Amino acid sequence: MIAGCKHLKPAARVLDVGCGAGVLASWLSGASISSHFGVDLSEVAIEQGRQANIDGAEFAVADAATFEPSQVFDVIVFNEMLYYLEEPEEQIRRLARCLAPGGLLIVSIWYHDDGIRTWNRLKAAFDELERVRITHASTRFKWDVAVLNLR
Ligand SMILES: C[S@@+](CC[C@H](N)C(=O)[O-])C[C@H]1O[C@@H](n2cnc3c(N)ncnc32)[C@H](O)[C@@H]1O
Repeated sequence: MIAGCKHLKPAARVLDVGCGAGVLASWLSGASISSHFGVDLSEVAIEQGRQANIDGAEFAVADAATFEPSQVFDVIVFNEMLYYLEEPEEQIRRLARCLAPGGLLIVSIWYHDDGIRTWNRLKAAFDELERVRITHASTRFKWDVAVLNLR
């Protein structure tokens, strides 16, 4: 996720959908992105993100299912949140309308039950430009991170 933002799209304007309390924003802070805009359903999480005063990061409470971005972004990240959406492929496609030409969609999903079901839906709807599997050393839990392309 971080490598994707840093290396595939340097100086990116990043939209982080379902950003939680801004973990990704703090990891990206100081990296070669130009801005981070995080949205999340949870007012508590968004307040925590704001309180963290992360350089270049802005936060807003919004539902990914209805959020209409008013800015253009170079990267849209869906980090561990697509299982919460009823129609993830629809929402990705809708939000992708605010991507600049050549912009990237980056998705990270826990490789387990709901996650596998979500991947199967995404596979049917998008092309995968890249995918990596990350395994946590002690728990052996796995996450897949993919860069998707609209068909
Ligand atoms: C597992 S957490 C991941 C948070 C963050 N992306 C991270 O990796 O640290 C899932 C987040 O998705 C948010 N979420 C769930 N449904 C959402 C929706 N419809 N719109 C926006 N955010 C949503 C939750 O509030 C929660 O913060």
